[in-house]
Amino acid sequence: MTTAAPRPTPAHELSTSQPAVSASKSTDVNFQGLPIPRGSVIASLSFYQAPADGSKPYNFVEKQPEGVPQRNFGEAWNEVKVDDLRGQENKFNMENNAFATLSNISSEEHEFLRDERIRQVYYPEVEKLLLDTVPGANRVLLFDYTIRRSTPNAERAPVVRVHIDQTPASAAARVRHHLPDEAEKLLQGRYRIINVWRPLNGPVMAHPLAVADSATVNDADLIGVEHRYPDRTGETAAVQYNPEQKWYYWSGMTNQERLLLKCFDSDETVGAWGRVPHTAFVHPNTPEGAIGRESIEVRALVFG
Ligand code: OGA
Ligand code: FE
Repeated sequence: MTTAAPRPTPAHELSTSQPAVSASKSTDVNFQGLPIPRGSVIASLSFYQAPADGSKPYNFVEKQPEGVPQRNFGEAWNEVKVDDLRGQENKFNMENNAFATLSNISSEEHEFLRDERIRQVYYPEVEKLLLDTVPGANRVLLFDYTIRRSTPNAERAPVVRVHIDQTPASAAARVRHHLPDEAEKLLQGRYRIINVWRPLNGPVMAHPLAVADSATVNDADLIGVEHRYPDRTGETAAVQYNPEQKWYYWSGMTNQERLLLKCFDSDETVGAWGRVPHTAFVHPNTPEGAIGRESIEVRALVFG
């Protein structure tokens, strides 16, 4: 007999009687027996600092050419309050805040070691998840994924720098790049870029991901940065500190939870249309010896 996989529940549909994970319970520990860092904290986040010489900001995605710096802009560290989404998930959604939390998601992929398995098993699950949970979505194209591990020689580590993966220009360029024949038509409809983020070794103990509620972020604080690949140049956004920004993280995210990050939305008329600044950060209550965070984010073009 087979049991049907539980339907993913957008966290904003969860009843508030859902048992909340209590921060004070001494049983709230991970498999190492260490307390899971939770609750509202003051943390240091790395924001944008313009190049001193006024030049246009860039960074190289892979190794930079000889004698050229990896990036030509600096970082401005600011202390911000980062509130815990846990227990207040239902206050946030994709349309108003440009991020959303999903709970009780199952997956048939557990290793995340082989590219082919990730594409054959995990990709279809992510596609279905987006079609089922993103309002209006009728077509999804997954174009990229990144696995991050905190081990010293990991290819990609958590990103400790506030950013948005795309800008309006690079989002349109993504559509043209992946769907050249249909691009002109698709660009006339609604298109979004959404990252589906989850830990691989949850509950997250170190380097959780923080997001700034899109509705509290001014366009004037977003700066386009040339994102130089070996063969082409994309564009990401760096983010200037502004005390109006409200920051959140979802404490102790588990492998059955997903954070949806909307990096671009062509529809500026829906709610507070959006783009969500995000960054990994050092949680001040990370216990010593805590396991490093591993995660995967899948990037999707979402149409409709
Ligand atoms: C992302 C991202 C950084 C991290 O998912 O787009 O920037 O540390 N992730 O996981
Ligand atoms: Fe990102």
